[in-house]
Amino acid sequence: MKGFREVTKDIYWIGGSDRRLERFENIFPVPEGVSYNSYFVDDDKKVVFDTADISISDQYLENLKEVLKGKKLDYLVVLHMEPDHASLISTVIALFPEVTIVGGAKTFQIMEQFFEEAKDYKRLEVKEGDTLETGHHTFHFVAAPMVHWPEVLMAYDDASGALLCADAFGTFGALDGGLFADEYDYEKDFLDSARRYYANIVGKYGMQVQAVLKKAQGLDIKMLLSLHGPVWRKDIAYLLDKYQKWSTYEAETDDIVVFYGSLYGHTASAAEAVASELRAQTSKNVKVYDVSGTDVSYLIGEVWRCKKIVLMCPTYNNGIYPPMESFLSDCIALGVQNRIFALAQNGTWAPATVKLMTEKLANLKNVTILEDSLTIKSALHANDEEAVRSFVGSIVNS
Ligand SMILES: Cc1cc2nc3c(=O)[nH]c(=O)nc-3n(C[C@H](O)[C@H](O)[C@H](O)COP(=O)(O)O)c2cc1C
Ligand SMILES: [Fe+2]
Ligand SMILES: [Fe+2]
Repeated sequence: MKGFREVTKDIYWIGGSDRRLERFENIFPVPEGVSYNSYFVDDDKKVVFDTADISISDQYLENLKEVLKGKKLDYLVVLHMEPDHASLISTVIALFPEVTIVGGAKTFQIMEQFFEEAKDYKRLEVKEGDTLETGHHTFHFVAAPMVHWPEVLMAYDDASGALLCADAFGTFGALDGGLFADEYDYEKDFLDSARRYYANIVGKYGMQVQAVLKKAQGLDIKMLLSLHGPVWRKDIAYLLDKYQKWSTYEAETDDIVVFYGSLYGHTASAAEAVASELRAQTSKNVKVYDVSGTDVSYLIGEVWRCKKIVLMCPTYNNGIYPPMESFLSDCIALGVQNRIFALAQNGTWAPATVKLMTEKLANLKNVTILEDSLTIKSALHANDEEAVRSFVGSIVNS
């Protein structure tokens, strides 16, 4: 059954989608599934760019055999050695022992770490500026170190204007029969997933993404062929603009998010009160999240989207309530920058989380912590109304 699709003249998508995977990298929930893209070039030379995850191996190998139509594979280009794209390398080589593997010095070093037999593979080592000519197409290699692994390469084809961009510009989300971003309502179907993917997987490497975006300015890019999610062939500026914002830690919207933790519901009620007062004092959109019930990867995605973040946290054994602590640790690990935080604490005998969260947030660059905080003693009371109003006022005016 035909499982491949034409991307553009001579270039075919031969990937597949996994809808069974619970967590990508065994961390990030993917209820929307994920696609693993691999690209085949049907030129004088037959070339595959990256393989796929082992979970889709049957479909993948079937696609590869179909597009090859009995011909032998000349090159397997490895732009990224992470196993979600590289786990089938040894399988492909077992099927096509004559194939030449193309990659950078680091690519082969990592390949030998994953596959001992890789030292015997026929290899062609390339670096930035080198090219691979396949007949009608010439692929120019571009280094993209730490987007998001050190060995990452991209390849630009000047015949089609396609940039094979490894994990960059990708997204969580299985493909629903479409291949191109313009076959979907991307903003509705993929944008939140793309942001969550970016923030959690690439977010730490904003500077390295900036370096790649600068290189991209020198290329006439007509298509973006990522390893995950749909292919871009129209309105590429839309996605480049998102990446420009995300990689410089500039918020996408002025929506306000409220993240609360609550053991027994009182901090939750206070969060609702803060949210409705925010609505009363501003026309901005407000979203409220329970940090216990929301996987932290979604919270991180929202941090990348929004400028102002309200944290409302119970004191727990003199410490920060653990799910909030885990969120803050992720913010530090991913190098969140350029945000405004407003802090509220709950405590029944010694509220301490404004101080403790402030200490954690001090690890972040270029963040503002509003001086006006809110303290709840077990529950909000009628005489706290003014304190809530003033807390919200300082958020709105920040
Ligand atoms: C196991 C546990 C430990 C707590 N530790 C503290 C604490 O160290 N200091 C404090 O002021 N309150 C402490 N509290 C009270 C909570 O911070 C909070 O005031 C209470 O859970 C009510 O808010 P909630 O309904 O949002 O959970 C603790 C509560 C629990 C259940
Ligand atoms: Fe990756
Ligand atoms: Fe990947």
